[in-house]
Amino acid sequence: MRVLVLGGTFEASKLADLLAGQSGVSSMLSFAGRTKALRPPQIPYRTGGFGGVDGLEAYLEAERIDVLVDATHPFAEQISRHAALAAARAKIPLVVLSRPAWVAQPGDHWIEVADMAAAAAALGREPKRVFLTIGRLQIGAFAAAPHHFYLIRTIEPLTLPPNLPRHRVVLGRGPFAVEAEEKLLREESIDVVVTKNSGGEAAFPKLCAARHLGLPVVMVARPQQAAGPVLHDPAEAMTFLLRHQSTLTPRGV
Ligand SMILES: NC(=O)c1ccc[n+]([C@@H]2O[C@H](COP(=O)([O-])OP(=O)(O)OC[C@H]3O[C@@H](n4cnc5c(N)ncnc54)[C@H](OP(=O)(O)O)[C@@H]3O)[C@@H](O)[C@H]2O)c1
Repeated sequence: MRVLVLGGTFEASKLADLLAGQSGVSSMLSFAGRTKALRPPQIPYRTGGFGGVDGLEAYLEAERIDVLVDATHPFAEQISRHAALAAARAKIPLVVLSRPAWVAQPGDHWIEVADMAAAAAALGREPKRVFLTIGRLQIGAFAAAPHHFYLIRTIEPLTLPPNLPRHRVVLGRGPFAVEAEEKLLREESIDVVVTKNSGGEAAFPKLCAARHLGLPVVMVARPQQAAGPVLHDPAEAMTFLLRHQSTLTPRGV
């Protein structure tokens, strides 16, 4: 069985570890190539886009891939859409590996919004100190609300300074600890946290910290998930793949 895993997440790397050395399985992990400090997996990997749906379909055909695993981030909409289309065209199964969304708990004060524009609007007219933990790509949406101060946390430095008159960038890669998150929010006199509903444990402590301090969280909802069976756990995905190994008809036969 030849498996292509679309990655860029902790879950994809975990699945790659499980696939490493699996007899009868040849697997490849694919990264978009956005992160400079790449952690090489235990299986072969490639980096960079495929060139749209056509490119991905051509890759699946050329590499005789039997099953495609979309283990990309829940907010990586385009590649998930491409994966669903390319797998359908190549007539191979698609497995979606996606961590469960966070769910508000008692004591949480979440303002749930559909996208970044709505998140910027939800901050209101009164100037606030905002902890912005949404990655690098969509910071521009907050130019619509320039009256706030933004403490921006990203994994890697921003390539361009954000178009925000009052901001500071701090670098950090999870997993984070609740105590450290609380300390940061307190020391920076943060009024509100903005985050995407990425799910997972590594970034969850900021939500606990916000709850402990009674701070509101503007929570951006996930985009619609691509079609296909959705599994939440890398081990579950591995079991699924192995169960399918015996039932898959080799391509081209
Ligand atoms: N969006 C987030 O919040 C977020 C957070 C953490 C990690 N990530 C990871 O970062 C990567 C990029 O995210 P994004 O939101 O920019 O994606 P995106 O908008 O859905 O995808 C943009 C393009 O990047 C290429 N691409 C994306 N993931 C790829 C992969 N695993 N392997 C090869 N090419 C890939 C594809 O190019 P072609 O069309 O040329 O094939 C795709 O059309 C993803 O792998 C994702 O898992 C994203």
